[in-house]
Amino acid sequence: MSIRSVAVLTSGGDSQGMNAAVRAVVRSAVFYGLDVFGVQRGYKGLIQNEIRHMDLRSVGDIIQRGGTILQSARCLEFLTPEGQQQGANVLKDRGIDALIVIGGDGSYQGAEKLHHLGIRTMGLPGTIDNDISFTDRTIGFDTAVSIVVDAINKLRDTMSSHERASIVEVMGRHCGDIALHAGLASGAETILVPEVPFELKEVANRLKENFQKGKRHSIIIVAEGVGSGNDIGNQLQEMSGLEPRVTVLGHIQRGGSPTHNDRILASQLGDFAIRKLLEGESGKACGILKGELTTTDLTTVVTSKKAFDMDLYQLALRLSQ
Ligand code: ADP
Ligand code: F6P
Repeated sequence: MSIRSVAVLTSGGDSQGMNAAVRAVVRSAVFYGLDVFGVQRGYKGLIQNEIRHMDLRSVGDIIQRGGTILQSARCLEFLTPEGQQQGANVLKDRGIDALIVIGGDGSYQGAEKLHHLGIRTMGLPGTIDNDISFTDRTIGFDTAVSIVVDAINKLRDTMSSHERASIVEVMGRHCGDIALHAGLASGAETILVPEVPFELKEVANRLKENFQKGKRHSIIIVAEGVGSGNDIGNQLQEMSGLEPRVTVLGHIQRGGSPTHNDRILASQLGDFAIRKLLEGESGKACGILKGELTTTDLTTVVTSKKAFDMDLYQLALRLSQ
């Protein structure tokens, strides 16, 4: 049976480009003659039936905006079978045939549960962390990396005036992709990520050597998954005798206008999700692999760990001598 209506929600940590994805879902759904609904506050709003009808004008003037007009939330109740059943019941009672979930790994697990409860679901990768398997990029990652690179450009100015080392803590609980990409793009000397073990003593020695080699500053980028930038800064100060300065970029990385890359990715994936639902697919995550739009079973996606790009990591090290 083909679907006649679809709802969309944003869940978990927000990311730039979620609005562009919501816009694409709504406009594509209308284009294909579907009734389309927006769920407020992720799974929390789903359970509480906070669902409104959307039309072409509901998503005007949002492609350029960070955040999410649907708002996002974390919902403990949805972790329980009762909460999940309640979410499925709300959709059935409202006569909504399918649900598109824009979010990260946790949100995907929720979507998988709904799929097993008979709801047709599609996941779209909305997270700055780029930690979702079976997609080369997640929506928001490109913007977050640009923000980090821009911040490091500024830090370099003042660090080189004072011949200092700069420690920059970036987001990425379990995934070092923001640190890796921003580190390579900004010429960081050291990139500390959860995927690659390291000895802080070696980092301290390298830091001293860099100054001895004539470098006027040094950038150490730390993914939050390896520990706090402040702790690492204190330890490096003790080990090296230098006085590094620590910057924690925090939630700044999750705000602001999405880059054109994130807007395009969000637009492609939002439209693709609708077309795949119309073709009868469900329980899938949409992604982009080597430029091709793809769907993969949500179960496969949530049970696989994203591979870390060691080639890119080695390249960053080679070029930062
Ligand atoms: P993200 O989607 O960014 O990874 P979270 O991990 O916080 O963010 O997950 C967002 C929400 O998804 C959670 O608050 C919860 O409602 C739902 N969720 C997470 N994990 C599960 C799970 N195992 N089963 C069902 N729902 C889940
Ligand atoms: O999942 C994205 C992310 O930005 C992580 O990198 C970070 O640890 C987390 O969200 C913080 O989210 P919040 O402060 O909303 O709990």
